[in-house]
Amino acid sequence: MVQAPTSDTILEWYDRHARALPWRVPPAQSRAGVRQDPYKVWLSEIMLQQTTVAAVIPYFEHFTTRWPTVAALASATDDEIRAAWAGLGYYRRAANLHACAKQVAEAGGAFPTTAAGLAALPGIGAYTSAAIASIAFGEAASVVDGNIERVIARTHRIEDTQPRLKRRVAEHVSRLVPADRPGDFAQAMMDLGATICTPRKPACALCPWREGCQAVKHGDQERFPVKAPKKAKPHRRGTALVHVRPSDGAVWCERRPETGLLAGMTQMPTSEWTEAVPDAPDATRVGPVEHVFTHFALTLDVYKSEGQAPPSWERASDTGWWSPPEQLAGEALPTVMLKVLRAALPDRADLRLRPQKKAR
Ligand code: ADE
Repeated sequence: MVQAPTSDTILEWYDRHARALPWRVPPAQSRAGVRQDPYKVWLSEIMLQQTTVAAVIPYFEHFTTRWPTVAALASATDDEIRAAWAGLGYYRRAANLHACAKQVAEAGGAFPTTAAGLAALPGIGAYTSAAIASIAFGEAASVVDGNIERVIARTHRIEDTQPRLKRRVAEHVSRLVPADRPGDFAQAMMDLGATICTPRKPACALCPWREGCQAVKHGDQERFPVKAPKKAKPHRRGTALVHVRPSDGAVWCERRPETGLLAGMTQMPTSEWTEAVPDAPDATRVGPVEHVFTHFALTLDVYKSEGQAPPSWERASDTGWWSPPEQLAGEALPTVMLKVLRAALPDRADLRLRPQKKAR
């Protein structure tokens, strides 16, 4: 008899092979009834929404050391949070994180204990509410992320593409999730997807579910999940100016508007980012940089100039400030602007690019 995938088989595997992660209670302790602090579960799940585990770990450590409770995070300033988040990308998450912390702190400091209650908070959608409710509070919620979709799409050879795929996977997961260890089950599924049932070359020989897996049976694991043809992203162009003060090497910086893309983050003066040919400053061109945002790809032509006074380019804000490049790397500088800085200052090996986003 071929075994269908069950929660028991994957939990046995998880008990032996769970990844040690700083936001996780190891399975031996979890089985003994220990639960993670909901604040840490929430923080990690927000950070992990669009970002890889490896990239999140140092940010998680930094945030929990600096702000050990939701009340501490609530009383941080917007600027402090933006600066600490810089490099993680998808910056709306930082604004929502702060709004959510304030709301929870004002309500007494305890997170709602159900997925439905959590989903009413800023920045917490269907996936995140289910993940927090199951991991922090033991609710038998159906957690479905990209890894889990891949696992179930393969075990059941689901031919649907999004958005139907997500619904079908959620139905399967809701039948599998065990009442006694829902959080461990969710994390076991995530680990299986991340370490065994990988997008390419899955390690099926090591998989606890290989026997019942329909894709293994047909030998076409990598065909699942079936992807709908991708729409091409629009392409935008712009110019940016790195203006250096010769006396001390400081760079002219400004703050982006409080709303919209990269709200409130630091930037070097830049044109509009549109499909039209952008206007250029009167300066030396030092090369293009490429950056891909969620809704468009951007090519920025980078220019460099020098002067003791702020730049005279009409695109530059007169409410900017001078900042040494090494200090900027620790401020609320988005990755696209770090690329701009590196293009203009190629000798500055200390200006390192920060972690990459999850491949989507
Ligand atoms: N990805 C999202 N949430 C996760 C978690 N709790 N553990 C591992 N990977 C994750």
